[in-house]
Amino acid sequence: MSLEIKNITVLGSGIMGHGIAQVSATAGYNVKLRDIEKSFLDKAMDKIKWSLDKMVEKQKISQQEAANILSRITPIVDLKEALKGADMLIEAVPEDMNLKRKVYAEVDALADQKTLFASNTSTLPITEISSLTSRPDRFVGLHFFNPPQLMPLVEVIPGNRTAGNTVNLAIDYVSKVGKQPVLCKKDVAGFIVNRIFIPLVHEAAYCQERDHASMTEIDSAVKFKMAFPMGIFELADYTGLDVIYKATVEMHSRDTKVIRPHPKIKQLYDEKNLGQKSGRGFYEYGGGKYERVALTEQEAEKYDPVALVAVAANNGAWLVSNGVCSLQDLEKALKLGMGLKKELFSTVKEFGPARIVSCLLDLAAKHGSFYEPDRFLLQLSEQK
Ligand code: 3HC
Repeated sequence: MSLEIKNITVLGSGIMGHGIAQVSATAGYNVKLRDIEKSFLDKAMDKIKWSLDKMVEKQKISQQEAANILSRITPIVDLKEALKGADMLIEAVPEDMNLKRKVYAEVDALADQKTLFASNTSTLPITEISSLTSRPDRFVGLHFFNPPQLMPLVEVIPGNRTAGNTVNLAIDYVSKVGKQPVLCKKDVAGFIVNRIFIPLVHEAAYCQERDHASMTEIDSAVKFKMAFPMGIFELADYTGLDVIYKATVEMHSRDTKVIRPHPKIKQLYDEKNLGQKSGRGFYEYGGGKYERVALTEQEAEKYDPVALVAVAANNGAWLVSNGVCSLQDLEKALKLGMGLKKELFSTVKEFGPARIVSCLLDLAAKHGSFYEPDRFLLQLSEQK
């Protein structure tokens, strides 16, 4: 680990980029936050100020510390200037392979050879993106969770040609920013957490149709019976329907078994109803600000989320069966990356593995192979 990382350039100042810039500056790194328009950067800096003010209000940091953190972040449009002196680049531009292709061609030509490249991609294969550059050995996936300021997980994803030293430097950075790394051992569509989260949004839309349940009934059940901190429609709106839609397209194009796309997500995306940030997604919002949906235990009682538990568990089981992560790391990732207050497979036990498998078999008979139960779940259901 001869390279000492001091200067970080974050490319893209959206939901993830501004948060990554903030946590990096909080850990003492000098950060350049780069975007293509000054107006995007102004918005991002406002969000960082809001977040730092919250931290001061909650006495997590002092006013002086907040000012120091802010002074370590330089918003910048000029790409060449942004990359000058960077020890590590963290790319957080939208999830579109054509865009990534263009961005990496530019940055690879401009960045110093020593600069490590990390992509915060949520779904694109690291091996494929790294091969767009001249430094696949110094390229790694570093996947943060929204909001990066509060979620303690970072998935670390090596590509086929990522050097061991690059992984070590990435893990060291993750620890320094006060987060916990989970190693995603295989470069699979959706990595660990998104392999559970994104298909669940689609399944919730199917549940609404199939079971004639309201969104708040389903979301309340997700919150109070599955121990999620937010409902699933609420979380989709919070994440952004653009992010969900693009992740869906990329994941599904690489592995049709991972997701059963529901047309509602594309519809919301096409209508530009992107969730909280645009004032409307599955729900309506006051506009732009952090807002929560009112969910209650009484409403939770009206809905049985067995199909949602089944789909989440089935994708989780697939990750374990295919050696992407251990069951322990899966639970750690869901706790730290999605804030689950109870282990997913404890919820499976509560619902009954046999009932979960029977639900999946029933859905598979009606809707196809996406629902076929994974062998790890089948084994669980056969245990006495
Ligand atoms: N910075 C600082 N403070 C923030 C903040 C931020 N960015 N965002 C929210 N807060 C504050 C809130 O304003 C609130 O402050 P208040 O007490 O003064 O009102 C405080 O944090 C707590 O918020 P809530 O009252 O809403 O309470 P919660 O306990 O539910 O915590 C949460 C909020 C951490 C967002 C929690 O709901 C959670 O973990 N939600 C799930 C998030 C999740 O699943 N993220 C991952 C999505 S997948 C992903 O990102 C991957 C990508 O590739 C798609």
